[in-house]
Amino acid sequence: MNLYKLTEKVFKYSFGKPINTEAVLTKGEKVKEEPLRYFNIDSTEGMSFNYKMTKDQIVWGLGENLRGMNKRGGIYESFCSDDPRHTPDKKSLYSAHNFLVVDGEETFGVFIDYPGKVVFDVGFSEENSLVIAIEEKDVDVYIITGEKPLEIVREFLNIIGESYAPPKWAFGYQQSRWSYPNEEAVREVGDKFIENSIPCDAIYLDIDYMERFKDFTIDETAFPHFKTFTKEMKDKGFRLIPIIDAGVKIEKDYDVYEEGLEKNYFCSDAEGKPFVAAVWPGRCHFPDFLNPQVRTWFGLKYKVLTDLGIEGFWNDMNEPALFYTDRGLKDAINLAKASENRNLDIYSFFKLNDTFNNMTNSLEDYKSFYHNINGEKINHYKVHNLYGYNMTRAAGEGLSLIDSNKRFLLFSRASYIGMHRYGGIWTGDNHSWWEHLLLNIKMMPSLNMCGFLYVGADTGGFGGNVNHELITRWTQFSIFTPLFRNHAAMGTRKQEPYSFEESTINLLRSAIELRYALIPYIYSEYMKSLKNKDMYFKPLSFEYPDDFSKRVENQLLLGDSLMITPVYEENSLGRYVYLPEDMVLWKVKNYQERTYEIVKAGHHYIDVDLNEVPIFIRTDKAFVLGKHSKNVESLNNEELNVIAFVENEATYVCYDDDGATKDYKVGKHEEIIIHIKKFKDDEFTIEIESKGNTKVKTLNFEIINTDGRVHSKTLSIKP
Ligand code: GLC
Repeated sequence: MNLYKLTEKVFKYSFGKPINTEAVLTKGEKVKEEPLRYFNIDSTEGMSFNYKMTKDQIVWGLGENLRGMNKRGGIYESFCSDDPRHTPDKKSLYSAHNFLVVDGEETFGVFIDYPGKVVFDVGFSEENSLVIAIEEKDVDVYIITGEKPLEIVREFLNIIGESYAPPKWAFGYQQSRWSYPNEEAVREVGDKFIENSIPCDAIYLDIDYMERFKDFTIDETAFPHFKTFTKEMKDKGFRLIPIIDAGVKIEKDYDVYEEGLEKNYFCSDAEGKPFVAAVWPGRCHFPDFLNPQVRTWFGLKYKVLTDLGIEGFWNDMNEPALFYTDRGLKDAINLAKASENRNLDIYSFFKLNDTFNNMTNSLEDYKSFYHNINGEKINHYKVHNLYGYNMTRAAGEGLSLIDSNKRFLLFSRASYIGMHRYGGIWTGDNHSWWEHLLLNIKMMPSLNMCGFLYVGADTGGFGGNVNHELITRWTQFSIFTPLFRNHAAMGTRKQEPYSFEESTINLLRSAIELRYALIPYIYSEYMKSLKNKDMYFKPLSFEYPDDFSKRVENQLLLGDSLMITPVYEENSLGRYVYLPEDMVLWKVKNYQERTYEIVKAGHHYIDVDLNEVPIFIRTDKAFVLGKHSKNVESLNNEELNVIAFVENEATYVCYDDDGATKDYKVGKHEEIIIHIKKFKDDEFTIEIESKGNTKVKTLNFEIINTDGRVHSKTLSIKP
């Protein structure tokens, strides 16, 4: 074992010969060995790290995974899985985020940097045991010390590097469906948004835009004038976002296939031949994204589409998903043939059934192919969790080569920590189930803890049919998530906002308008989280020290100033909320009408009609609110409202930048620093300082006093 000190608070214990995942960027210096802090190690088989939890300790983290924010009571596997049924008994979703924070009498963070399967038994087998197990003995274990969870998270965010920043338009509403099959269908979606006056920034192209599901091709029958069409849609205010899948179709004369084959860029089987498995197009090869040359090659292929005016992508099926291999299919067919005309008893029938069901994403297949890492042949199973990460890294790096200073929209389905530097993620194939709205809420802070800021779920649910109430409540939550996209599976009920009855359309429009009005705040908080190594969504207890806050999993702190309390139950016209301090409640029906109510610290039941979005403003905090428009580019925020709840004094730093380039990385941005101070019972002083060339000219203040009265004032910003 080697021990490295990365910062005063972060230590790396390096066992054996770990694979460099490049999740952590900070190198650190070697220091004298000492036993792994907090954990007992058992290395009889593989390695397991054991920690005795006290009854009250909470375990936060694990990014994209099931169950609650507090992971206790569950068993989880980090093994990127393409499984569309996210039921509570499942152990993994699409990503592998091995970071958690133990919080209580002893508080620390741990990151298991190991690219194969990791099992986290968080008090499942034994109530008070946290056991983290891997099958090998080569692993880097990072221990992050600190007093409080947030401090530990920030320390962690600091060593894994800055999160990805999408272009500002990607904070607008986005509409997707598998699939809008051709130009007419996509055009109609755009027109419907315009007709119904519902703001929207992007429309998605799912697999059917491609010619027989081949990456970087376009079906010219369905999209005969792709470049002109992209322009036509952009002129109307919509960007088109095509999907890119991991598998490359085996087809003679298809350039991606031919080049990959010639250059030896695909993963290989045991005999060194390109590995074959089927996905959408049928038999495919899989680019070896763990090889930097392959990444550059594949990454530059995105140019085929950027040359046609495309400015954003979603990378899919990159766990990688494998429908079947010839081996799996053959086994199943043989068994089926042998079963023909037989009287199958329960066991033989189950076996037959399982053989077909287990053909997809089988472990045997994952163990049957190889990567070439620096000339060394490494079995895929050992590095499984790096595949989606490196596909998106390939895209991120490629897009930087294509246009070095432009921000592209990019997000992925599978990921590992480190990928957060290249793109965001969506949470995969959820369902139109209320349970998944709640899961979506709970997952957001865990993802932020792992560096993933640009995140969101398929609003309304991907699988299954959504009803008017679920789409409304879900949209009313998603207006707060950085990635705000409605997406649904083939064969499901139409889920675009305009596909519902008039009354629902009106509710969805109001919610989406609120989103656009909140963009000055949402963008400011997003970029500050990114720059200051902070979380955009936090559990209450990351800011409030009281014991009850630790138990709240269905309310979130949003940025610095707000708390949100989404309604996530059917037929409910309200919900319980817990307030760790006095706050102001603004129930938004229409963001242009504002009435405020002071709610005292403690437990309350609040009524929330289907046409209301509850937003709480914390004590001594302020936020900014603009106006909606048809899309982000046409927002006019020369005039902003500053809404504050002031007991003593409140400061808000309103960040903005060009939203299009990477100039923010060299410090180019604008800031308005607003400081409000109470000096008598009902009088306030306001100070404004502006840095950079802000476009904001006027600030309309609404300062809510502790007696509930609102003080209004308008100030202009001097250039
Ligand atoms: C996968 C994706 C889903 C997409 C579908 C077809 O299931 O997760 O979002 O619509 O593939 O491409």
